[in-house]
Amino acid sequence: MEDDGYVRVAAADDVGGPPFVRVTVEGTEVLVGRLDDGSVRAFSPRCPHLQQPLTSAFLTGTTLECPFHFYAYDLDSGANTFPGDDDDLALPVHDAVERDGAVFVRVRGSGPGRSATS
Ligand code: FES
Repeated sequence: MEDDGYVRVAAADDVGGPPFVRVTVEGTEVLVGRLDDGSVRAFSPRCPHLQQPLTSAFLTGTTLECPFHFYAYDLDSGANTFPGDDDDLALPVHDAVERDGAVFVRVRGSGPGRSATS
């Protein structure tokens, strides 16, 4: 773990998507993916709607669309952008950066002493 709380989770070349890379950062399952602009994002592997997997969700810009019922989430804020009755549903998103040929994730709400497995 870096001093800033980020944990190395994958080689940069291994992160793309969809499909996204699934890792576990100290007990928290996370998907890591790359946007068209080359930046990386980290987010929950399960859709908040009915907990279906998001490994192969559709990605357009910063919008992730669940393939099951097409709820859509902004990967910067986690906000549900699908119009309807579930506006309060939010996708847990985490901090992700790429440096030194690797992708690092910091689980939001995490503290020192975290480790990663994939
Ligand atoms: S499970 Fe994702 S939209 Fe329903």
